[in-house]
Amino acid sequence: MKVAIASDHGGIHIREEIKKLMDEMGIEYIDLGCECETSVDYPDYAIPVAEKVANGEVDRGILICGTGIGMTIAANKVKGIRCALCHDVYSAKLTRQHNDSNILAMGERVIGPGLAREIAKVWLTTEFEGGRHARRVEKITQYENKHL
Ligand code: RB5
Repeated sequence: MKVAIASDHGGIHIREEIKKLMDEMGIEYIDLGCECETSVDYPDYAIPVAEKVANGEVDRGILICGTGIGMTIAANKVKGIRCALCHDVYSAKLTRQHNDSNILAMGERVIGPGLAREIAKVWLTTEFEGGRHARRVEKITQYENKHL
């Protein structure tokens, strides 16, 4: 699996923690910034990651900002993206099993690095269950194909 990861200035510490985790797990990733601690705009980081997931350059994406909300809103504007904002391990597991989420968003001003690590680990290792959940995800895709 190949992952694209990015954060704004509000998420740089968790981004580093998740990169360490992916190194330990042997997961290949590309880091799309941000490069510094000065204030940047989260859509400039969410959209490039979302586009790489949508066009198949990478399998999944991980986005971190202050709350995770801006990243989630921006990423979900890209056709084919199912970005899930998770601040607990249960949601991270279920959004993979039921929603086949392809981007995980987290907020560094909401949770600490230890919990972010556990959330990312579960999200990266949990498979989509398919079945009735595939029918539901397919309805979202059908809407996108018709209207976006
Ligand atoms: C930046 O101050 C902050 O607005 C951003 O990191 C994020 O929380 C937006 O949703």
